[in-house]
Amino acid sequence: MSTPNTVIIIGGGLAGLSAAIEAHANGARVILLEKEARIGGNSIKASSGINTVEPLNNDTVELFEEDSIISGGGLSDPTLVHKLVTESQDAVKWLIEQSKDSLDLSLVSRCGGHRVGRTHRCKPGENGRPVPVGWAIIETLKKRLDGVEVKTGTRVLEILKNASGRVTGVRVITDGEEEEIDAEAVILASGGFGGQTGELQGDGKESLLHHYAPQLVNLATTNGPWANGDGVRLGLAAGAKLKDMDQVQIHPTGFIDPSNPSAPTKFLAPEALRAYGAILLDGEGHRFVDELGRRDEVSKAFFEHPNHPTPEGWMSKSLSAATDADKHTSASTATATDTATSASTSTYTSDSRSAVAYLVMPQQAVENFGEGTLGFYLQKGFFVKAAGTAGLAKLLAVSQEALEEELGQYDSHQDPEKTVFPCDLMPSKDILYWVALVTPCVHYTMGGLTIDSEARVLESSGKPITGLYAAGEVAAGVHGKNRLAGNSLLECVVYGRTAGRTAATSYLSLD
Ligand SMILES: Cc1cc2nc3c(=O)[nH]c(=O)nc-3n(C[C@H](O)[C@H](O)[C@H](O)COP(=O)(O)OP(=O)(O)OC[C@H]3O[C@@H](n4cnc5c(N)ncnc54)[C@H](O)[C@@H]3O)c2cc1C
Ligand SMILES: *[C@@H]1O[C@H](CO)[C@@H](O)[C@H](O)[C@H]1NC(C)=O
Ligand SMILES: *[C@@H]1O[C@H](CO)[C@@H](O)[C@H](O)[C@H]1NC(C)=O
Repeated sequence: MSTPNTVIIIGGGLAGLSAAIEAHANGARVILLEKEARIGGNSIKASSGINTVEPLNNDTVELFEEDSIISGGGLSDPTLVHKLVTESQDAVKWLIEQSKDSLDLSLVSRCGGHRVGRTHRCKPGENGRPVPVGWAIIETLKKRLDGVEVKTGTRVLEILKNASGRVTGVRVITDGEEEEIDAEAVILASGGFGGQTGELQGDGKESLLHHYAPQLVNLATTNGPWANGDGVRLGLAAGAKLKDMDQVQIHPTGFIDPSNPSAPTKFLAPEALRAYGAILLDGEGHRFVDELGRRDEVSKAFFEHPNHPTPEGWMSKSLSAATDADKHTSASTATATDTATSASTSTYTSDSRSAVAYLVMPQQAVENFGEGTLGFYLQKGFFVKAAGTAGLAKLLAVSQEALEEELGQYDSHQDPEKTVFPCDLMPSKDILYWVALVTPCVHYTMGGLTIDSEARVLESSGKPITGLYAAGEVAAGVHGKNRLAGNSLLECVVYGRTAGRTAATSYLSLD
């Protein structure tokens, strides 16, 4: 072996970084191409965590695998799920090793559709400041790229193949200049297509979302605009078979920003908020769904339930509620009053009003989740505080008596539909409540390129395309109809590492 294998990786999110580190560790020359100015992709936005079999909660491979398969609704590939779960502990161990033990993933929560807590995220730092999990993982891996050639601002336009169908490199564009780069293997780690809502994308082409799930184009998205489906188009042009393209995950809770309620991109109200005890209330102050049901079920309830809050009145009411709440307690860390002031200048559009609910967190849930972490959302103006059930009833413009009955009923744990009650809603009538308006958003695209358990991209015939690999959100098969919270970051590490290893080692063995 005189010259090493060259492996090109398209995309600098978690799947791409995992692949790059592993391909380099296996002796390849590695070139990582990222079209944006900085690496991180959607991975840097992840806030709920990464899953692993969690023995401390009596979790097992079988249980985790079953939860994932059930959530997939018959569409997931059991072989891919099996690999995801059996390699989960190793994946998290690897991340921590990469950080030289500085990455702390010790907080565990139980998210929707999971029968036990197995979603890991970071403890707040020593200064009490929150450490967002996606950011922390990307920062860790960025420091491990010694020896990897990283080119940002470079967009891949085409995957090149020779007449025998073997991948030979890519055609790229950097600052308007096109060039070809040769490689023995190419790994697509370019993410999904949930960032391009609307009918057309910037370049005038039909968005993949409009093509495959036209009913969703008027929703907002939690994704960055970089998630534009390039990887799906590149793979398709290279002969890949697509799978499950119409399976798009709607996250039930994106924050409505009172200062820009119809913004097409929304901050995610992480599922972990509900895991720690946030509830959802309709316009009349009633619960309408098991807050910890699967995402598809919770989103469906948003669309089907008739009594949405009418948010116009909410801002003026929230102003006085916030002021009352600040008088009520010194615990307030940020400027709820500023929030309400900026909010009162805005109006709601029909889009953002179509499926809205209140997200209500009792003080205990706020403390369990981490008040410091929530402070970020408070500063953004997403939360308003209400003092006691009286303040909450006033804020929601519902009768205090009916509200107390609703909360009391929850606290009696008698709801047959609900099995998990993270904390009491009304331990007393004068606790503090944090309230936000939330709405469903496009969040994750389950479909994409068909792969096998070696991360090789498959043609319609089922044959691998020689030299082409895919990992992360660009690939299909792991999640089926509905992705479980925390399974995507895990998929990026498990399949990214596999792709890197296979790409670096298989070329020579083929010859
Ligand atoms: C707000 C939010 C919160 C989330 N929270 C969680 C969570 O807590 N847990 C979890 O498991 N999942 C979570 N997810 C999902 C998860 O973050 C993503 O699915 C995952 O990070 C995708 O990683 P990736 O490496 O496949 O793609 P990305 O991280 O999106 O990276 C892909 C990169 O490829 C680049 N690229 C695309 N096309 C090209 C091209 N032609 N040439 C060059 N570069 C290109 C993009 O610019 C991008 O930087 C969340 C998603 C969002 C949006
Ligand atoms: C795990 O199982 C043991 C034995 O059944 C039980 O005592 C313990 O409480 C369980 N732990 C958790 C976290 O569920
Ligand atoms: C395609 O590339 C492979 C690997 O370099 C080589 O063995 C094969 O002969 C090439 N085919 C053609 C038609 O050039």
